[in-house]
Amino acid sequence: MKTTVTDFFKAKEKGEKLTVLTAYDYSIAKLMDESSIDSILVGDSLGMVCLGYENTLSVTMEDMIHHSKAVVRGAKNTMVVVDMPFMSYQVSTESAVVNAGRIIKETGATAVKLEGGAEMVDTIKAIVRAQIPVMGHLGLTPQSVNVMGGFKVQGKTEEAAKKLIEDAKKLEEAGVFSIVLECVPAKLAELISKEISVPTIGIGSGNGCDGQVLVYHDMLDMFSGFKPKFVKTFANIGEQIKEGFEKYVEEVKSGSFPAEEHTFKINDEVLEKLY
Ligand code: KIV
Repeated sequence: MKTTVTDFFKAKEKGEKLTVLTAYDYSIAKLMDESSIDSILVGDSLGMVCLGYENTLSVTMEDMIHHSKAVVRGAKNTMVVVDMPFMSYQVSTESAVVNAGRIIKETGATAVKLEGGAEMVDTIKAIVRAQIPVMGHLGLTPQSVNVMGGFKVQGKTEEAAKKLIEDAKKLEEAGVFSIVLECVPAKLAELISKEISVPTIGIGSGNGCDGQVLVYHDMLDMFSGFKPKFVKTFANIGEQIKEGFEKYVEEVKSGSFPAEEHTFKINDEVLEKLY
């Protein structure tokens, strides 16, 4: 049975941790679908891990829709949430609803995610009114990288911590079904998780959150760029891929690949006529 947004609330009620991973294509989504991941996020982190940008700001609606369609095709039994890219929801409430609608209609995903606190309340309410579930995102919000002055831990001062708690409550009131808390000090993330009824999904925010999300390239060590402190390597796939590539080069150069079992046969009678 496909996970739904109501399962998120049930999990929080029962104290069961939610598991979310990012995916950006069909094959990985299918592997996740065959595992027991609760939900897949097509994050705009695709700009960095798939498209090679320095941040997420250049990601377009077309990029998100293109990748999300592939993910949804692979995730038959897993709820897919899609990030709304930078400038697809900040300009006006109306264009935010139109873009959220495009994502759902064109990809078949279940929900959208957008970044921001109190300033996003009207937008979130309008999208939810259009019957589209919304996941919020607080703390380190990568689309604000230029305002934040880099990818930094958020909520460390009393004022910033109080603002994060307020923002979380406002998002809850606006009707989000969950909130990603990114790079929020663990004790503060735990407090926020206790203060609101919607599940919090942490990334770099400790285990007091109601669930966790990671970028799959990070947890499989497939991204040779910067590795954040909060990332744990669950499998060293990056090394295995490189080893595979080197073996391939070696065998092609030495002539040992392709071997006979990798080739197709032609009838000798046909072959004779060619000489
Ligand atoms: O874009 C993304 O992958 C995200 C997660 C890191 C939460 O927003």
